[in-house]
Amino acid sequence: MTDNCPIITVDGPSGSGKGTISQLLATDLGFHYLDSGALYRLLALAAQRHKVLFDNVAGLSVLAAHMDITFEMNPEGGQPTVFLESEDVSTAIRNEDIGESASIVAAIPEVREALLQRQQAFARKPGLVADGRDMGTVVFADAELKIFLTASPDTRAKRRHKQLIGKGESDSLAALIDWVKQRDARDGSRSVSPLRPADDALLLDSTSLSIAEVFAQLRQEVKDRLSI
Ligand code: C5P
Repeated sequence: MTDNCPIITVDGPSGSGKGTISQLLATDLGFHYLDSGALYRLLALAAQRHKVLFDNVAGLSVLAAHMDITFEMNPEGGQPTVFLESEDVSTAIRNEDIGESASIVAAIPEVREALLQRQQAFARKPGLVADGRDMGTVVFADAELKIFLTASPDTRAKRRHKQLIGKGESDSLAALIDWVKQRDARDGSRSVSPLRPADDALLLDSTSLSIAEVFAQLRQEVKDRLSI
């Protein structure tokens, strides 16, 4: 996409493992990392705090374009630390309600437009791994390597269940399967940037693969296609 700045996009639904894989790839390659879902989550949190309602499209767009946010990469990998107006909100944005709200604001075309350039600004040398829903189809449509990672809804719900138990929270597996399906339906059916693989994306189903297996396959792909 840009001179000497290779871009790798990793799109897919919630629970496909795209966040973990993208962070591993970025760390291994020494690339920058964009967690675009965090931007939508930050907007949902900022809207809540500034009392901007979800039907206030103009207010949300202004907030999306101007909210004061910072991402701090963790040199050892893992999720970046995220700041909203200088406050560390890394945990606050991972809350379930914020995830729901993020998915609602993400369906508004003006909001997506307002966040487009902010996402594209993450493309810097030596390269970028960008994770989300429309990285390969819209935001970085010229990316050198596009990956679409998926897994069955049951598997994704089970992974989420395990994560919640790890955090001392719980939800029934049946409820999580419903939640995964509902989130997929909303993200896949919206009129703007619906979740779908780019025509030139490499599809990978991680249902019966471990993180290490997915990483090994994709790392090899990066070597073959980008010679790095
Ligand atoms: O990936 P994550 O679960 O953090 O994303 C939260 C929500 O943000 C998703 O459910 C989706 O609706 C939205 N999103 C999006 N486009 C992206 C990334 C996230 O619409 N590129």
